[in-house]
Amino acid sequence: MTDDLRPLAVVTGASSGIGYELARCFAEDGYDLIVCADGADIQEAAQAIGSSGAKVEAVRADLSTPQGVGELYQRIGGRPVDALAANAGVGLGHAFLDQDFDDVMRVIDTNVTGTLKLIHLVGRDMRQRGRGRILITGSIAGLMPGAFQAVYNATKAFLDSFSFAIRNELKDSGVTVTCLMPGPTDTDFFERAGLMDTKVGQDKKADPAGVARTGYEAMKRGEGDVVAGLKNKLQAAVAAVTPQSVLAEQHRKMAEPGSGQA
Ligand SMILES: NC(=O)c1ccc[n+]([C@@H]2O[C@H](COP(=O)([O-])OP(=O)(O)OC[C@H]3O[C@@H](n4cnc5c(N)ncnc54)[C@H](OP(=O)(O)O)[C@@H]3O)[C@@H](O)[C@H]2O)c1
Repeated sequence: MTDDLRPLAVVTGASSGIGYELARCFAEDGYDLIVCADGADIQEAAQAIGSSGAKVEAVRADLSTPQGVGELYQRIGGRPVDALAANAGVGLGHAFLDQDFDDVMRVIDTNVTGTLKLIHLVGRDMRQRGRGRILITGSIAGLMPGAFQAVYNATKAFLDSFSFAIRNELKDSGVTVTCLMPGPTDTDFFERAGLMDTKVGQDKKADPAGVARTGYEAMKRGEGDVVAGLKNKLQAAVAAVTPQSVLAEQHRKMAEPGSGQA
């Protein structure tokens, strides 16, 4: 059981990449953790995250399904959650009509439906207690139509927007909502999304530890959003004043299969 004196954080997608590094930030900061991912390697990740002295409980659950989200919520078991990092997510490269529709649905079910269901459950508890921090991993991908990654970018546009909307709804509740918007980050994401032969797949990327730290600090300050990295901040600012058709064409150059070999 968690020591009542230590705050509790729940981090999804904590077996690798940004989520793993977010969990390490919480552990170093004195939180106990419940970490969740779909694969068996969440156990090993939990052990490594706990090496700094935090109590870390691993939950293996598929958050693209209502059962998986229910399982994670059950494992929280009514313990007060001080912080929720809703970070689990998957990408999917290639043209929309060339994608397997089951894969398309898995992206939507993981990034949007599962994320919302978990925030709905944990967020209600936080509102009732009058405190809590929610950190949602969106993306600067949500600021541009993602030609050759259309569904993924649309899920991130959903989260970027949703995050600011519920932040506003909760403004007098003691619960803060922060959206971490990373740019390309050096994780398993690109391999898993089938993007390794693309320009964005092959370009240099940000260190996930730095990205997570940026998000973590913004969450602690209760900020609305944070774009990780100067280059991405500039890209986000330019995207805001660029026509959607131009952004889609730019995205094609980054994500079209074979673009990495040019
Ligand atoms: N890397 C980037 O360039 C980048 C940029 C902007 C935003 N992001 C976002 O950052 C978040 C983390 O991605 P990452 O880059 O760190 O990639 P990653 O290393 O592939 O991590 C993804 C994490 O999500 C988990 N996950 C995926 N599907 C799941 C499911 N159905 N149920 C439970 N857990 C699931 C994975 O666990 P399993 O392996 O067990 O499935 C893994 O722990 C995602 O939301 C992604 O969209 C990434």
